[in-house]
Amino acid sequence: MPNLQSVLDEIAHDMASASERGAVARYIPELAKVDPARFGLAVLTEDGTLHTAGDADEPFSIQSVSKVFTLTLALGQVGDILWNRVGREPSGNPFNSIVQLEYEHGIPRNPLINAGALVVTDVLLSGYKPREAIGLILSFMRGLADDDSVFIDEKVARSEEETGFGNRALANYMKAFGNIRHAVEWTTGVYFHQCAIAMSCRQLAVAASFLAGEGKHLLTGNRIVSRERARRINAVMLTCGHYDGSGDFAFRVGIPGKSGVGGGIMAVVPGKASIAVWSPGLNKVGNSLLGSLALERLAKAMDWSIF
Ligand code: DON
Repeated sequence: MPNLQSVLDEIAHDMASASERGAVARYIPELAKVDPARFGLAVLTEDGTLHTAGDADEPFSIQSVSKVFTLTLALGQVGDILWNRVGREPSGNPFNSIVQLEYEHGIPRNPLINAGALVVTDVLLSGYKPREAIGLILSFMRGLADDDSVFIDEKVARSEEETGFGNRALANYMKAFGNIRHAVEWTTGVYFHQCAIAMSCRQLAVAASFLAGEGKHLLTGNRIVSRERARRINAVMLTCGHYDGSGDFAFRVGIPGKSGVGGGIMAVVPGKASIAVWSPGLNKVGNSLLGSLALERLAKAMDWSIF
């Protein structure tokens, strides 16, 4: 097996000089300001060793990567009845699409597209005020990252509040079917804040490690979810984590992963490693261009595809 650190260094070196880097997300104005030249990579292996390369300690907006963590929290709160309100099939549509909601009676295809994540966030509001739900999500992330410096970037949250009409439309439409139970502004408000969580690749690789460890955190040894739940969350990530690019990601990389429009991708190699990569430029479907390429190279070099 090749030396992991050398593989990471080589990938980071090549990515630094790549000329085609994709385009940073512009529809959230604050994200358009991020330097497309950044690239970070972090891997936590099952023995608890952390390897990093490039800008692995620079916080970035995790955006939709947060959807995996809110899903974990909501399953912990309500269990499998969550699946009555959100499906677990790939949508084959863009992450912000509204079209299927009409045909499918306000039940989103899966929890990793915007509509599904809004339902999950709505579940997290049960019994809580928005500020409390945001606090709950943030403490969960800090605990998983084993680092209290994880924070919510208020400028990004505000930028989403100011431009998030599509998300409000999704929430309103689902509310018409009774699948959003709280005030739309409450649900979208919490959602915008969870998307605005800022983390580094190092923190994100550590946070994801319970999904690589059959539910047990690789660094702290704490059990976060059962083995069965970790497998199921990984299954949803594999089939739905990259929206209408999920098939291509499975084909090229072959491991469960979740992307965000901030350019981050979190991925797990069950039983072996958790990974976070960040490169702000996106491909046409909103997934990090160089991040996907880096993961493809890493999985190939380490023989980490699950297939
Ligand atoms: O709601 C949105 O559109 C963003 N806050 C998050 C979308 C996202 O990250 C999709 N990822 N590729």
